[in-house]
Amino acid sequence: MRLVFIGPPGVGKGTYATAISKRYRIPHISTGDMLREEIKRGSELGVRVREYVERGELVPDDIIIELVRNRLSREDCKRGFILDGFPRTLRQAEELDKMTKLDLVLNFVAPDEVIIDRLSGRRICRKCGAIYHVKYMPPRVPGRCDRCGGELYQREDDRPEVIRRRLELYRRQFKPIIEYYRRKGILVDVDASDQAEIVVPRIVEVLKSKGLVSDQ
Ligand code: AP5
Repeated sequence: MRLVFIGPPGVGKGTYATAISKRYRIPHISTGDMLREEIKRGSELGVRVREYVERGELVPDDIIIELVRNRLSREDCKRGFILDGFPRTLRQAEELDKMTKLDLVLNFVAPDEVIIDRLSGRRICRKCGAIYHVKYMPPRVPGRCDRCGGELYQREDDRPEVIRRRLELYRRQFKPIIEYYRRKGILVDVDASDQAEIVVPRIVEVLKSKGLVSDQ
């Protein structure tokens, strides 16, 4: 099952991809997570992309396409994958078509107020990357990860002025990509304005209706 999750920043792509990846045992490939990992390690790539990511701007196509090409060629992608955050430009979408044949693109939709509320309350574990929300998905102990006890932090690009820039960029850049997949007939819109416990079963229903999964 080869899936792409698209939608504005903060709509919940990472949260839903984590749940679907665990349920169907296919890797969750988040280009944002991969870039943040490189930045944290201080690698050569990390140094090149740091400013783009912290300002909420797109990293150059050539860098990100190579990163994804390498990742998709790994053994664990043979049974499928969920791409989260890629493609983000038409060129990325066209290059992805040369690498693999997608089964489905899920386009998550929610109003801006919902998104801003989600991003400003988001917290992430420094150690394992688990995603929380101070209001909607709070950890048991404030500031600590339920899974590994790691420290929770707020992403540099989750500051209000950067959130606004990311949303504007999204609106400008994503229209042609959504149209590209709609024309191919593989795009499905998913209402993501409800709580994650409602959105995840909604995704499972879509996957079943497309004959991609057959479980309970
Ligand atoms: P990336 O990490 O991909 O960021 P994004 O697309 O902006 O998406 P987010 O991770 O911010 O949001 P999400 O939809 O995954 O939401 P989440 O599940 O965390 O990219 C970051 C940067 O990397 C980019 O700006 C760019 O610089 C660069 N980059 C990455 N890919 C690139 C590419 N292909 N080309 C060029 N540059 C690239 O949820 C958000 C919050 O809401 C959480 O707190 C969560 O707990 C909560 N929540 C989630 N769902 C719900 C729900 N249903 N109800 C209530 N709360 C919810």
